[in-house]
Amino acid sequence: MTTKKRIPMRKVSSAVHLTLAVHRESPQPMHRQIYDGYRAAIVSRTLRPGQRVPSSRGLAVELGISRIPVLTAYAQLLAEGYLETRVGFGTTVSRSLPDPPVSAERAKSHSRSTIAAGFIAEHRNLPESMLHPPWGRGWGAFGVGQVAFEQFPFKAWNSLITRHCRGGNVKSLDYGDPMGLQALREAIAAYLGPARGVRCDADQIMIVSGSQQALDICTRALIRRGSRVWMEEPGYRFARQVFALNDCRIVPIPVDREGLDITAGVDLRLDARAVLVTPSHQYPLGFTMSASRRLKLLDWAERAQSWIFEDDYDSEYRYENMPISSLQGLDPNGRVIYIGTFSKVLFPSLRLGYIVIPRGLVKHFQAIRVAMDIGPPTLLQAVLGDFIREDHFSRHIRRMRLLYSERRTALLESLHSAFGPDLEVTGQHAGMHLCIFMNRIHDLVIARRAASSKLWLVPLSSSYAGESARHGFILGYGSTSAEQMNNAVGKLQTAIYGQPKHETRDRE
Ligand SMILES: Cc1ncc(COP(=O)(O)O)c(C=O)c1O
Repeated sequence: MTTKKRIPMRKVSSAVHLTLAVHRESPQPMHRQIYDGYRAAIVSRTLRPGQRVPSSRGLAVELGISRIPVLTAYAQLLAEGYLETRVGFGTTVSRSLPDPPVSAERAKSHSRSTIAAGFIAEHRNLPESMLHPPWGRGWGAFGVGQVAFEQFPFKAWNSLITRHCRGGNVKSLDYGDPMGLQALREAIAAYLGPARGVRCDADQIMIVSGSQQALDICTRALIRRGSRVWMEEPGYRFARQVFALNDCRIVPIPVDREGLDITAGVDLRLDARAVLVTPSHQYPLGFTMSASRRLKLLDWAERAQSWIFEDDYDSEYRYENMPISSLQGLDPNGRVIYIGTFSKVLFPSLRLGYIVIPRGLVKHFQAIRVAMDIGPPTLLQAVLGDFIREDHFSRHIRRMRLLYSERRTALLESLHSAFGPDLEVTGQHAGMHLCIFMNRIHDLVIARRAASSKLWLVPLSSSYAGESARHGFILGYGSTSAEQMNNAVGKLQTAIYGQPKHETRDRE
């Protein structure tokens, strides 16, 4: 049996009557306890500037400990300027300390509203209510932005990580190029030409931490605070947050089956410094911007001297025809800033993406980047560069295209059998999500209710800046196997109607 030891504790009165307790069995070393005790007493003015503290020997004797912890504590207090030594006075509390801080009472009286008004940067446009929507937390069927995680080629990836961690290349530990690792930029440039019809070379590519940061850099580089930006309505709500954070005024422009309605935008007579579009697979409705709209948009940008931010987030996956070429490849005037991401095509926690910058703007973008975070980790960039160059990337895309196509077909079949053949679906030709529309429902109410039973449905309304024109859901299918699809759709039916309307059985 162990007997509980009494903690030996001594109290000592210093030259200035400081009461200090030192616990031998504390996890804190003794020198740290002494340091903390003196520092707290000095900051709170229990010990006043100029007052003498006991000699190290005296304090050690009084505490019944060796002199070493006392010397260590005093040395630290001297080094940080809490104590000073003066000839003839010994060691005293420093006389150059500023006036006491605001009293605890006064500090407490600072209400939250005072803090909001005076001490934090306000971003009035940032929709706080949308930061943590109840339906945005989960992992499972219909998650938007979730990929087939279990299919990721971990073996190939791990061997590349091992290769780059083996050591020897000490240069890779230093700060990287703010434009990103040259080898990765070259690999991306070689991919973008044939795969996406993007016209660029590696010097124009900046590696960033995903589309979200890409958009932030573009906005900081090109949009003055208070300027107007056109956004698709409905559109990508995370992009809205970036513009709000940069104090842009967002002008929602309606989207129809041909993409952004430029004429409707022009008719508003609210010119904008930039427009954000998702021409290959409009988010969230999934339409492809028609050729005539593309040309019209490029023409508008040139006339208005505005920028086009092209978010090309998931266009590698097209199921019924060839991938649509980028808008950037059509642009003769250097007005398009192309944004790509590896979040959909590989996995979102990688946080790697890229910007293709018009040649004349490269230096300007670089200056913004250096003032921000300089660049993403070199190790991950090197691994990704090899992953692309050694064909793991294209192999993964080919495999995933087949898999997502199968999951998409299973989802469409289940939806039509559950909701009837007349169910309106859009965006099913590409990417990893589609939209369904429902009459006489309130999608936010249903999404909130479904979340309480752990079904995470993204309501279409959440993509509208203004009043939602239609209600429905954005259904991701990337992370749900074809075999699980009927079951998932059954849950969706229950969430909408309270119970499944038709019998749905999982595929054998
Ligand atoms: C429209 C759109 N753009 C971009 C992204 C990817 O963003 P990020 O690269 O910041 O992960 C997504 C992800 O869901 C998206 O829906």
